[in-house]
Amino acid sequence: MRVFLLLLGLLVALCDASRLACKYPPEQWCSSREIAAECQVEQQCVEFQSSNAKQPVNLWLFYESLCGGCRNFLVAHLFPVWILLNDILNITLVPYGNAEERNISGKWEFTCQHGPDECLLNMIETCVMHYLGNIEDSFPVIFCIESSHFVTNATESCLQIYAPDLTMEKVMSCVKGDLGNQLMHQNALLTEGLQPKHQYVPWIVINGKHTEELQTEALDNLYGLVCKMYTGIKPEACKCGNTERNSFPKTTRSLCWH
Ligand SMILES: *[C@@H]1O[C@H](CO)[C@@H](O)[C@H](O)[C@H]1NC(C)=O
Ligand SMILES: *[C@@H]1O[C@H](CO)[C@@H](O)[C@H](O)[C@H]1NC(C)=O
Ligand SMILES: *[C@@H]1O[C@H](CO)[C@@H](O)[C@H](O)[C@H]1NC(C)=O
Repeated sequence: MRVFLLLLGLLVALCDASRLACKYPPEQWCSSREIAAECQVEQQCVEFQSSNAKQPVNLWLFYESLCGGCRNFLVAHLFPVWILLNDILNITLVPYGNAEERNISGKWEFTCQHGPDECLLNMIETCVMHYLGNIEDSFPVIFCIESSHFVTNATESCLQIYAPDLTMEKVMSCVKGDLGNQLMHQNALLTEGLQPKHQYVPWIVINGKHTEELQTEALDNLYGLVCKMYTGIKPEACKCGNTERNSFPKTTRSLCWH
């Protein structure tokens, strides 16, 4: 409603100003500061942006910790793009992927595509994200783990660097206890509830949608895709350089099939 009123206000302001020789159609008025200035709607655009268009692009990554294609996408693509565009990109990581769960007398047992090490690391990452609470604090740790050569035993040193207040003991008590079990079950529900069902990982969902086109574009040029999909005033990072061309290495197309 508020958004609608602001939009209406913007239109009224512009009808008043119809004497202006503004050569842009209304849907472009707030698309850049220059155009807003030329059409004399800067103030209205600021209000409009701050209420509505500040919705970030929401990206969910469904992955599993030891899948090569997942690690490559997360490390070489998603993390650097997030560093540059984190004002407009909201990331949610769901480590589970092609795992399976069974209810063994009230406790969930998990089986993972790349074996018990992967189940353990999925759980470690899940517990780390739970304790750190937000992606700003947890993504650097996950990135550090996934980019390590010895991925299965990197957690402790990654925590020391990026989250020194969170101890390995605390993480492991979550991993071995009911908390980790329940958190991983939530990941299972999220993953199994995907529409359409995931066929492979990394499986990318953007603003609630997964299509082959979006997936392909995200793997080829995530940076350009996020800039393109963001409906607010583009941040400077979207202007410098050519976002049409991918400046990051291509994600190797090694998907892990379900
Ligand atoms: C970011 O994503 C989470 C879901 O993982 C959601 O709860 C939150 O509202 C999103 N933030 C914004 C600003 O959209
Ligand atoms: C899991 O199994 C236990 C008994 O084995 C049962 O009481 C419980 O309802 C089951 N939970 C789910 C979610 O199926
Ligand atoms: C991790 O394991 C590898 C081999 O399994 C070993 O060489 C390395 O020192 C270990 N790193 C840490 C930090 O424990």
